[in-house]
Amino acid sequence: MPFDPYRRANPSVLDIAPYVPGKSLEEAIEESGRDDVIKLASNENPLGASPAAVEAISAALGGAHRYVESSARRVRGRFAAILGLTPDHLIAGNGSDALLLAAAMAFLDREDEVIVPEITFSMYEIVARTMGARVVRAAMDGMAIDIDAILSNVSAATKAVFLCNPNNPTGTLIDRRRFAELWDALPDDVLLIHDEAYADFADPALRPDTAALVRGGAANLLAVRTFSKSHGLAGVRFGFAYGDPRAIELMHRVRPPFDLSIVAQAAGLAAAGDEEFRRLTLQVNRDGKEQLAAGFDALGLTFTPTHTNFIMVRAGDRAPAVADALLRRGVVVRCWTRPAALASWLRITIGTAADNRLLLAALADALAG
Ligand SMILES: Cc1ncc(COP(=O)(O)O)c(C=O)c1O
Repeated sequence: MPFDPYRRANPSVLDIAPYVPGKSLEEAIEESGRDDVIKLASNENPLGASPAAVEAISAALGGAHRYVESSARRVRGRFAAILGLTPDHLIAGNGSDALLLAAAMAFLDREDEVIVPEITFSMYEIVARTMGARVVRAAMDGMAIDIDAILSNVSAATKAVFLCNPNNPTGTLIDRRRFAELWDALPDDVLLIHDEAYADFADPALRPDTAALVRGGAANLLAVRTFSKSHGLAGVRFGFAYGDPRAIELMHRVRPPFDLSIVAQAAGLAAAGDEEFRRLTLQVNRDGKEQLAAGFDALGLTFTPTHTNFIMVRAGDRAPAVADALLRRGVVVRCWTRPAALASWLRITIGTAADNRLLLAALADALAG
């Protein structure tokens, strides 16, 4: 009998709906027929990449023929020092997606349940299902993650909870106080995977200090970070995670060797030291947030207060049509057909002042048309 990939597939994989990315710039240019497209669909850094990282990437290319030091020793040492941890608390990876998968591979098995909020980053479900784990969806409190709903779903089968904080795509934050309530109530044998992809954009006084918990010996906490947003390295792929050294050691067992390229390691190290770029990124984001909020108010649109570099705006039943109209006017935003609760919203990355002005003008046009 000829090999039938679908009959012979890992049954867990057959259950996976593929990740749907925001439209790429290439697709947007093709579909809109314009070459002046502004991409506000994937929460990338509107300023580009950290200039220090770009310089380091060029310098690193001379070593392109060499295998990189596999465990990213220098990277782990650098971030350990920044966070007050040891290199054994850290693992680096090819973007945070790769680390989410490594965590799933290290900890999840068939029969395990993982709790994932109803409206959150879609990769959690994909990595959990890859391992055959059962995904239990916790209800939201409107657009915010509901700690009580998470806790009420914990059972003897619960192995892990995925918490995107601040949350993508809603932009909401579980602040320190609420996080402490979750942390205190969560059984010690449940792993809390705290995705901090947008933490750099949140107020340091409000966001939970997971490094302090790990320093204090928390065994069931894994924090995951990326430089895709705050440091403009989405195309280079640079992420790291920290947690109990035993958990990290298990993740090292399953990650592909050399997965953080020589270019990504150099870029991440340089970006970590680029304070000027970080400061500018946060300033542009703060200003853009105010500019967009004022613009949405003027258009009479409801939006969620955000702790990230994007804003959710309610466009009603016409959301997909508005997104299409924006694309025709040269602006790409993100919209969804499911879950149903998301179908009336647009997610808009906060851009530069010029990007935001163009977006607001295009949105006014699209809504009128
Ligand atoms: C919440 C969240 N986690 C992780 C990722 C993946 O980031 P990376 O580019 O590091 O794989 C994203 C990217 O959109 C994200 O929004």
